[in-house]
Amino acid sequence: MLLSFICFLFVTIFAEVGATTNECVISRCGHHGPAIRFPFWLKDSQPDHCGYPGFQLSCTEKHQTMIELPNSVKLLVKKINYKSQEIQVHDPADCLPKQLSDLNLSASPFQFKVKHDHSLQDITLLNCSLPANRGFMRQIPCSSVPGYQVYVVDSYYTLFHDYDNYDLLSCSKMYNISSVPNDIFEHFYLNWSKPICRNCEADGKRCRLKSNSTEPETECFIISKKAQGPMVGSFLLVLVVIMFYRVHCTNKLQRENQIKIEKFLEDYRALKPSRYSFADIKKITNQFQDKLGQGGYGTVYKGKLSNEVLVAVKILSNSKGNGEEFINEVRTMGRIHHVNVVRLVGFCADGFSRALIYEFLPNESLEKFIFSTTIKNRSLGWKKLQDIALGIAKGIEYLHQGCDQRILHFDIKPHNILLDHHLNPKISDFGLAKLCSKEQSTVSMTAARGTMGYIAPEVLSRNFGHVSYKSDVFSFGMLLLEMVGGRKNIDVTVDNTSQLYFPEWAYNHLDQGEELHIRIEKEGDDKIAKQLTIVGLWCIQWYPMDRPPMKAVVQMLEGEGDSLTMPPNPFASTSPT
Ligand SMILES: *[C@@H]1O[C@H](CO)[C@@H](O)[C@H](O)[C@H]1NC(C)=O
Ligand SMILES: *[C@@H]1O[C@H](CO)[C@@H](O)[C@H](O)[C@H]1NC(C)=O
Ligand SMILES: *[C@@H]1O[C@H](CO)[C@@H](O)[C@H](O)[C@H]1NC(C)=O
Ligand SMILES: *[C@@H]1O[C@H](CO)[C@@H](O)[C@H](O)[C@H]1NC(C)=O
Ligand SMILES: *[C@@H]1O[C@H](CO)[C@@H](O)[C@H](O)[C@H]1NC(C)=O
Ligand SMILES: *[C@@H]1O[C@H](CO)[C@@H](O)[C@H](O)[C@H]1NC(C)=O
Ligand SMILES: *[C@@H]1O[C@H](CO)[C@@H](O)[C@H](O)[C@H]1NC(C)=O
Ligand SMILES: *[C@@H]1O[C@H](CO)[C@@H](O)[C@H](O)[C@H]1NC(C)=O
Repeated sequence: MLLSFICFLFVTIFAEVGATTNECVISRCGHHGPAIRFPFWLKDSQPDHCGYPGFQLSCTEKHQTMIELPNSVKLLVKKINYKSQEIQVHDPADCLPKQLSDLNLSASPFQFKVKHDHSLQDITLLNCSLPANRGFMRQIPCSSVPGYQVYVVDSYYTLFHDYDNYDLLSCSKMYNISSVPNDIFEHFYLNWSKPICRNCEADGKRCRLKSNSTEPETECFIISKKAQGPMVGSFLLVLVVIMFYRVHCTNKLQRENQIKIEKFLEDYRALKPSRYSFADIKKITNQFQDKLGQGGYGTVYKGKLSNEVLVAVKILSNSKGNGEEFINEVRTMGRIHHVNVVRLVGFCADGFSRALIYEFLPNESLEKFIFSTTIKNRSLGWKKLQDIALGIAKGIEYLHQGCDQRILHFDIKPHNILLDHHLNPKISDFGLAKLCSKEQSTVSMTAARGTMGYIAPEVLSRNFGHVSYKSDVFSFGMLLLEMVGGRKNIDVTVDNTSQLYFPEWAYNHLDQGEELHIRIEKEGDDKIAKQLTIVGLWCIQWYPMDRPPMKAVVQMLEGEGDSLTMPPNPFASTSPT
């Protein structure tokens, strides 16, 4: 009954709002358009006092919401966020450069709003008679005419003395635009500082113009004002209202659900990797100052998205290639979230520049820890190694089972396992990954992929079986045995031939009932070493069907270890005897 009473109040509230603000009622241009209310108003159908000067909107023929800024610059409004006081806009013709020279926000209530802590930048538009696509240039196809292409560059580049080196001799400068966000050619954001309605919004109230002042001033008002008025009605009226009320409550529930979903989608969008321009990359890495590493794939720089978020930016060097590796990595990584998989924060595909932005992990790769030839003191201890092994196994299991599609990594090795502050492992480098459906038991492959020492035999030669998720299991086994051995399985620098191939040495030892006695410091160390070794030996079984799936591997690593049985000899079929 209490609930019903609350519902009743709710109905009266609604009736009240409808009655007092009829002409300023919330409206929309289209079904999915943003809700239009104060300070915005529809200039064609609402009186001036419904909104604030400079916030007039109109509806286009296609039911889109349009705002007109000074100099007749017209932009479509995609979203309005009343709480944070910002709008998302884009150009109706998708050709902003045509309007950009007229865009002057100083006479409007709006300012550019930029992402993270990026700053505004000056850009220059160039009109080039020869194609001049460079990583730092972005072509504007809509402004180009046959024989001439229009590009936009950070004005920064036009200041170089070696301007000519950029091959821009065929280009003439069209005009400069100062202080714009660097994603202006996609959709961009504008915010407003006046009127301030966010306080009202935050309190669940609404904002409106003060009715009797000469200056446009605003005040908050409570939507539920005068709610007790209609309560004087008869008992019958109350019953009728209660009925209405139930309908409204259902609506309210639906509305709440809708809000919940929208909130989720907003969060979800934030999780998805964002696209950055090359100019962004330059800013994020502070002009490529802090180099973390280099390899055949390209160079990795340390960067900063905001004060809290550190990132590793991988600039791909083979950007002249067909880009398959890049597409692979963005497509694969964009959809997965797991504590043991490194997170892709963003990417850049700007002209020929391609970059991937990952969360930054301070403790570098597992390789540095387990092959501790230079720093003897970096031993992690067996308990930690066990945790790391389990984390990696869970990450791979997730890749194999946890997503809509199965993800095969094909390059599991210590170098590709990164460690965070707490030494939690995260799988990285998905350049060789392949997607396939979960039902699919085998994968076709045109060329062997992976790194010697970790590649499963069937990947090298189809004579040994079909390529499948079991190929990752093999690589994981090799990694595990390297963690146990504390060195590369195949280590040419070891001249003691009896130790040349660690997995075989370990198998023979355990098979004869001997202990491993590797780096024993604490009680129980031997047990963990033995457990990891046995699991590793199961994983490197020669034939794919003899290897356990990752789910079983996780269980074997989580278990006590005593119950594990010795696998068959993985080397039986390879040894000449
Ligand atoms: C923008 O408009 C303001 C006021 O209308 C004017 O003073 C200013 O010169 C304009 N800026 C540009 C770049 O046109
Ligand atoms: C670029 O320059 C050419 C030659 O001067 C001219 O015909 C063309 O209109 C220019 N393009 C733009 C977008 O201004
Ligand atoms: C554009 O800006 C650059 C550098 O800020 C300057 O050197 C150049 O003269 C400007 N060009 C125009 C057309 O205003
Ligand atoms: C609008 O955004 C800019 C840049 O992101 C910021 O400096 C400014 O404080 C914002 N203004 C308001 C009123 O939020
Ligand atoms: C509003 O202004 C009118 C005329 O200026 C005045 O008669 C009226 O009392 C004012 N109302 C309020 C609430 O100030
Ligand atoms: C891992 O990195 C953190 C932060 O940089 C550091 O404090 C910690 O000592 C590192 N751990 C190891 C084992 O190097
Ligand atoms: C190695 O670690 C031990 C204790 O764990 C310490 O006493 C020793 O000083 C360390 N040696 C070096 C070279 O850091
Ligand atoms: C070689 O390995 C064997 C067996 O592990 C060991 O007994 C021997 O001392 C090692 N020799 C050298 C030179 O390390």
